[in-house]
Amino acid sequence: MGQLVRFGVSVEKDLIGRFDRLIARRGYANRCEALRDLMRQALIEKAWDEDAPVVATVTIVYDHHDPGLEAELTEIQHHHHDSVVAAMHSHLDAHDCLQVVILRGKAKAVKHLAEELIAAKGVKHGGMVMTAGGSAI
Ligand code: NI
Repeated sequence: MGQLVRFGVSVEKDLIGRFDRLIARRGYANRCEALRDLMRQALIEKAWDEDAPVVATVTIVYDHHDPGLEAELTEIQHHHHDSVVAAMHSHLDAHDCLQVVILRGKAKAVKHLAEELIAAKGVKHGGMVMTAGGSAI
């Protein structure tokens, strides 16, 4: 953590009351940590809006018996190998596989690749977590 700066914020009593109850339910120790997370979230959203360098994880679930699907998912990742940092595969049961892929690059390219993996025919469920690192947060 860098040098800390203290600042005062004026907030309506009702708003801070509701905020305090929310952050307590989420397990924050104090307002400072909750505010820092909100600020970082806003900066991450800005990076994605501005097509800045970002990081994402993509989680997909699929049946590995689905003909050609594993090959297609591998082909998509090789086609965009510059954006793929790593992939982890877990055999969930006799049929379903879970794959988590870490992506890095310009926001638009990362989002496009994530959408391509999630939309591949046969993928039962998928989602992306958008984040960023370094100077973005
Ligand atoms: Ni598997």
